[in-house]
Amino acid sequence: MKEIKTVGIIGFGVMGAAIGINAAASGFNVIFKELNETLVSSMYDKWVIQSLKNRVEKNKLTQQAMDQITQKIMGTHRYEDLKDCDLIIEAAVENLELKTTIFETLSKICADDAIFVSNTSTFPIESVMKKVPHPDRTAGLHYFFPANVNRLVEVVRQKKTSDDTFDAVRDFAVKNKKIVIPVKDFPGFAINPVFIASYMVLNSFYGNYNVATLDSISKEALGLKYGIMWVQNSSGIGTSFHAATSLYNYLNGTDVGFLKVPEQLKTCFDNGTPWNLNDGQVIEDKTIRQVVIDRLLGAIFAIATHLVEKTIVSATDLEKGIRTSLAWPEGPFAIMNKLGMEQTRKLIVLACYSGLFKMPEKFATDIPEPWGV
Ligand SMILES: NC(=O)c1ccc[n+]([C@@H]2O[C@H](COP(=O)([O-])OP(=O)(O)OC[C@H]3O[C@@H](n4cnc5c(N)ncnc54)[C@H](O)[C@@H]3O)[C@@H](O)[C@H]2O)c1
Repeated sequence: MKEIKTVGIIGFGVMGAAIGINAAASGFNVIFKELNETLVSSMYDKWVIQSLKNRVEKNKLTQQAMDQITQKIMGTHRYEDLKDCDLIIEAAVENLELKTTIFETLSKICADDAIFVSNTSTFPIESVMKKVPHPDRTAGLHYFFPANVNRLVEVVRQKKTSDDTFDAVRDFAVKNKKIVIPVKDFPGFAINPVFIASYMVLNSFYGNYNVATLDSISKEALGLKYGIMWVQNSSGIGTSFHAATSLYNYLNGTDVGFLKVPEQLKTCFDNGTPWNLNDGQVIEDKTIRQVVIDRLLGAIFAIATHLVEKTIVSATDLEKGIRTSLAWPEGPFAIMNKLGMEQTRKLIVLACYSGLFKMPEKFATDIPEPWGV
């Protein structure tokens, strides 16, 4: 297994910077690449100096620890300066052509045994790495926002990822004190399809229900502290619209299926406005609320079952991943087991007959045994 000492990061924005600081704090040398000299120094100042200073002032970090981290991070605007990196993590903007070109360029510069990973949220790793001559040394390393706080990382194995590469990437993530779940290459990987389906279902009820009610229903259905409409706003309506569109485009027409992007989300995106979380009184009528709860749970159960059936992720890892990354007190499988498999099947059938997903095999003909998680 390749030993990783120096990590190159492409793109030092919200994610790249958090990934870099996390790696430097864990003892790795970090070289980040930005587009030009001005961005190299402004990003270094913003994310490394100012944000760490802030933490020192709040006594969350010692000055000595800050100095150790800053000494380990260097910025550049030249690809050539990444030639000695053992691992490259790409966290540039979400654009497939840009990402494939970045890795094509790096292939000509880095050592033959360097490992390349992408933090893409929506593109299959196989497509991102299609111009890399050694795809066995590629994988996905999917962090969650905010990447220095959120402990979950999906280590994504594409068809050609070698065992050595997978082990080295997983070892790196563990040394960064992350909770790792192994997943296979799949649109959105394992966590995002569940989360994205959840907000798409809620968005599709907007109009008949106000935002405040939908947010409150999501809290009730899943036992959440922060409602899903609120979380969707924090991730950005642009990001949530693009992610929903991408998943629909990849999965519609497959044997998994995926719900259509709700018009209500598109309108929000077109208007450039987030959801208004204080748009009136919350509907308290139990029967009216139950309609949304049933559809929401049915969709979550259907997509979670598909992911396990397709062996993208194990039920145990998906359960752990959802709890860790989204801070749900229970994941889909614990909720299904608690509800009982008969009622679970009813909700999945309802969701699938409404055209949200194709029916998962496990529930197609009979009531199955509870999940062993
Ligand atoms: N923000 C999230 O919640 C989140 C979560 C998981 C994954 N991601 C993924 O992480 C990636 C980065 O997202 P972000 O939110 O940090 O975006 P961002 O816009 O904050 O940062 C992207 C950075 O990449 C730089 N960049 C663009 N092209 C470059 C190039 N050719 N070379 C070097 N730098 C380049 C930009 O200057 C910018 O600083 C995306 O693929 C996104 O899908 C984002």
